[in-house]
Amino acid sequence: MHATRDERPYVVALVGSPRLRGNCSFLVDLALADLERQGARCEKLMLGEFDIRPCQGHEDCDSRSACPRDDDAAAVIEKAYAADALLLATPVYYEDVSAQMKLFIDRNVFFNYHDRRLDPKVVGYVAVAAETGLQETIAALKRFVALSCGAAVRSFELTGFADKAGDAAANAPLVAEAHRFAEQLGAALREAPDS
Ligand SMILES: Cc1cc2nc3c(=O)[nH]c(=O)nc-3n(C[C@H](O)[C@H](O)[C@H](O)COP(=O)(O)O)c2cc1C
Repeated sequence: MHATRDERPYVVALVGSPRLRGNCSFLVDLALADLERQGARCEKLMLGEFDIRPCQGHEDCDSRSACPRDDDAAAVIEKAYAADALLLATPVYYEDVSAQMKLFIDRNVFFNYHDRRLDPKVVGYVAVAAETGLQETIAALKRFVALSCGAAVRSFELTGFADKAGDAAANAPLVAEAHRFAEQLGAALREAPDS
């Protein structure tokens, strides 16, 4: 007997909120449930649950076979690099990404030095703010993807206002947007050429 290869598109969602049941997490769960119904294999990683320490700026990544920081960063980054669809979700903190998301972003530098390029077929950006900073935060996520991918990649955005955990769930238009976002991601995955 041999294991059959899983042919379903692989969707990886990285969530930068420390709140396990916060607004980003809720919206990502909703989108992933829809994508699973469309036939995808989905995995959600709460970045704060992993041991991802700050880049120490050695700047000698190219002469090393592994980052000297022996933590969970490489394992998390490998999943992002394996994804057909990559979702990056963060609460807006000081009109920017959260610290958990920035730690993840910076640790990609080792892959960058080794000419490994992010290669998803589609990217989904999710940001939630109480009031301000949504576009700045989405722009920061987009800069990371642009700097990490070899080529332009199709992308979709889900942004909304919510503050306390549970606010997004109570926001019917935002919930409808999250379903639409999942529909767009699923359609883009189906339309993408097989690699
Ligand atoms: C440290 C911190 C900084 C924040 N900065 C902003 C901000 O600049 N603009 C804003 O509108 N909301 C800000 N917020 C509110 C969060 O973006 C908001 O509560 C969001 O819903 C959190 O998402 P989550 O539930 O997924 O963690 C901040 C919250 C915290 C804890």
